[in-house]
Amino acid sequence: MSDLAKADWSDSERVRSIATSYQQRYGEGFWEELTKLVTPIEINTVCDFGCGPGLFLQDAVQKLGATKVIGMDASTEMLAYAKNIALADLTNVQVDIIEIDFDIKRISLPSDSISFGFSGYMMHEVKKPLDFASQVYGTIKTAGGYAVFDFISGDREEFIRIMSDGHMSAEKARKRYPHMCKHSINDLEDILDAVGFSPITSIKLDPIRAIVFGIKKG
Ligand SMILES: C[S@@+](CC[C@H](N)C(=O)[O-])C[C@H]1O[C@@H](n2cnc3c(N)ncnc32)[C@H](O)[C@@H]1O
Repeated sequence: MSDLAKADWSDSERVRSIATSYQQRYGEGFWEELTKLVTPIEINTVCDFGCGPGLFLQDAVQKLGATKVIGMDASTEMLAYAKNIALADLTNVQVDIIEIDFDIKRISLPSDSISFGFSGYMMHEVKKPLDFASQVYGTIKTAGGYAVFDFISGDREEFIRIMSDGHMSAEKARKRYPHMCKHSINDLEDILDAVGFSPITSIKLDPIRAIVFGIKKG
């Protein structure tokens, strides 16, 4: 393995842990802020770029009113959970599951087809974030938006403390810093700005997490 800090997303234990930690990782504060951020856009088709077990998409239907959801991820095992568990019982909603490694393949969704794009705890994983964000930009509809929710750099001790209060041991958290926190809020804003999103709004949820949201102007 080239990067020891990187997780193995095909491991069944990892899939279970990402699914069971979802409620904690996407708590009330997250939904309160995200709901405010997306107020200016009309939401119908939602794509989660790096959807993992698909639980955000389940909530995108229930909390944001999505009528079509697309889950993209490199892990067959994560996508199986999304298809067979998280998104299996949705009614009157179109569900597409697409296996893709963003480091290897180009995103092949039609241009201007997604009203709301999202990446949760994922941007730090891709090898070329700017190129990835530029591909995402191409898929977003005019007046639609894209939100990146991720760990942010700068506070190693808080990262270890908060993570070890949650679902990760202090030892693992130490090992995964700075891999999981490679971007600052400014870095994420710069990425969205460079590919064309405007305006961009950021919310720091706690010392180690932020949502950065950009709109695709007409
Ligand atoms: C920490 S998990 C987050 C999953 C989900 N967004 C969530 O918050 O529950 C990161 C996800 O990104 C996916 N991922 C990592 N690198 C990727 C890449 N290069 N292409 C596609 N998916 C990738 C992994 O398979 C994994 O499901």
